Amino acid sequence: MTRVDSKPVDVVVMAAGKGTRMKSRVPKVLQRLAGVPLVQHVLNTAAQLQARSAVVITGHGADQVEPLLLAPGQVLAVQCVRQEPQLGTGHAVQQALPALADDGIVVILSGDVPLTQADTLQALIAQCGGDKLALLTIDFADPTGYGRIVRDGPKVQAIVEQKDASEAQRQINEVYSGIMAVPARQLKAWLARLDNKNAQGEYYLTDVVKFAVADGVSVVAHKITDALQVAGINSPVQLAELERAHQLREAHHLMEQGVRLKDPGRFDLRGQLDCAQDVEIDVNCVFEGRVSLGEGVKIGANCVIANCRIEAGAVIHPFTHIDGEKLGVSVGEGALIGPFARLRPGAQLGAEVHIGNFVEVKNSTMAQGAKANHLAYLGDATVGERVNYGAGSITANYDGANKHRTVIEADVHIGSNCVLVAPVTIGAGGTVGGGSTITKSTEPGALSVARGKQVSIANWARPAKKPKA
Ligand code: UD1
Ligand code: MG
Repeated sequence: MTRVDSKPVDVVVMAAGKGTRMKSRVPKVLQRLAGVPLVQHVLNTAAQLQARSAVVITGHGADQVEPLLLAPGQVLAVQCVRQEPQLGTGHAVQQALPALADDGIVVILSGDVPLTQADTLQALIAQCGGDKLALLTIDFADPTGYGRIVRDGPKVQAIVEQKDASEAQRQINEVYSGIMAVPARQLKAWLARLDNKNAQGEYYLTDVVKFAVADGVSVVAHKITDALQVAGINSPVQLAELERAHQLREAHHLMEQGVRLKDPGRFDLRGQLDCAQDVEIDVNCVFEGRVSLGEGVKIGANCVIANCRIEAGAVIHPFTHIDGEKLGVSVGEGALIGPFARLRPGAQLGAEVHIGNFVEVKNSTMAQGAKANHLAYLGDATVGERVNYGAGSITANYDGANKHRTVIEADVHIGSNCVLVAPVTIGAGGTVGGGSTITKSTEPGALSVARGKQVSIANWARPAKKPKA
C-alpha cells in the first residue's frame, strides 16, 4: 500500500485498560478474535500502514501483554510504555509522547478495536494531511456511551463524552470511533494542556479537539458506514458477536471466489485459507494457520484443519482432525481421508492414499495408493506405494528414550493387529501375518509371522458352575 502523503506515520495503540466486563484473568487485548489476540489484529493493520514506529501503552496485565508485543517475528518493531495508574485516554497517550518524534503523523488506535481496515486508516491519514486533526467517525442509531461529534455547520467543534453531554448533545448520532490521526507536534502541545475537570475525573484524549479549534487548526471527520471496523470489545457477548460478524464476512469473501460453503453461518477461519476452483466445504469446519485446498477438494462436516496442503480432488470425510503445526501436513491428489482420521505434523500423503476411521499418522510419508483404512497408527514411518496396512496395526516408534523409523517398502501387506518395532524394514512385496510383533527386518517377498502358534484342544469341556450347597 502506498501512502499519498509524505510524512512518516507513527502508531500509538492504547492497551492499558482493564476490561472489567470481560470477567477474565486474561487481559482484554489478549482475548482472541478469529484465533488472534485483539491487539495483534491492531498491530497487523498498523504494519500495513508502513508505520515508522509503534508504541503500545500497556498497564493492566502488562506482564502478559508485553511478551506478545515484543516477541521475535512480531510484524512491527514495538515499543511498550507503561501507564500506571490509568487516568484516562489522554493520560495514556501522554505516556507515549517521549517516544514520538515531532515530524510525524500520529495514528491513535485502541487495542480492543480489532477490525479496522488499513485503507480506512490511509484515508484518515490523507485527511490529516500532516496539518489537520482527523477523526474517524460513524453514525450510530444508538450512540449511547460514545463521545459525540459536535459540529458548527460542517466544522467539528468538539467531542463531548456521554457523561458530560447535555440532553441536546446526547441526541447527536455521529460518534467518535476512538481513532484519530494528528500531527505529532500539535498533539504534544495539546496534551500538555489537558485537565481532568469533567464528569469522570479523567484526562480525555478527546479534549484535543477543542484545543485544535482554539488554535485555528482544522478538525476534519472521516465518516465511515462500516460499524465492524470501529467495533470495540468490552464483554464476552460483544466478542462473540464480532467474531460471528467477522466470520460471516470471511465466508462471503470465499464464496465470492467460488468456494461453496454449505452454510456461511457455520464456518470458522482462524488463519489463511486459499482455495482453488470448485472447493466444497460442509458445515462446522474450522481452518487454522495456513491451509490450501486444491481444485475440487471436498471437506466433510465437522473437520478441524490446520497448516495443511490438500491437493486436487482429495476428499476429507467428516470429523477429521488435521494439524500440521510447524512441519505441515500434505494430502495428495485424490486421497480419501476419514471419517474420524487424525493427521499430525509431518504426515505427507501421496496421491490416492486412503486413510480411514480412527487412523493416526504422524511424521510419516505414504507413497501413492498406500492404504490404512481402520484403527491404526503410523508414526515416523516411510510407507511405499500400494502398501496395505491392516486394522489395528501400529508402528512402535518410541523405545522410551528415542524415536526410530519404520520402513515399509512398496506392495507390502501388513495384516491386522501387528506391532512393527522400530527401527525395522519390511522388504518390498512382503506380507506380515496378522497379530505379529515384528522386531527384525524382513526380506522382500517374505511372509513373516511372529506370534504364538495356535493350539486347539479337541472336545474341551468348559468349567461349569458348582451347584449351590
Ligand atoms: C473513548 C472516547 C470516546 C469514544 C470511544 C470509542 C475518550 C475520552 N473517549 O471512550 O469519545 O467514543 O472511546 O470507543 O477517549 N485506555 C488506556 N488507559 C486509560 C484509559 C483507557 O489505555 O487510562 C485504553 C483502553 O484500554 C481502551 C481505550 O483506551 O483500549 C479506550 O478507552 P475506553 O475506556 O474504552 O474509552 P471510552 O470511555 O470507551
Ligand atoms: Mg470503550
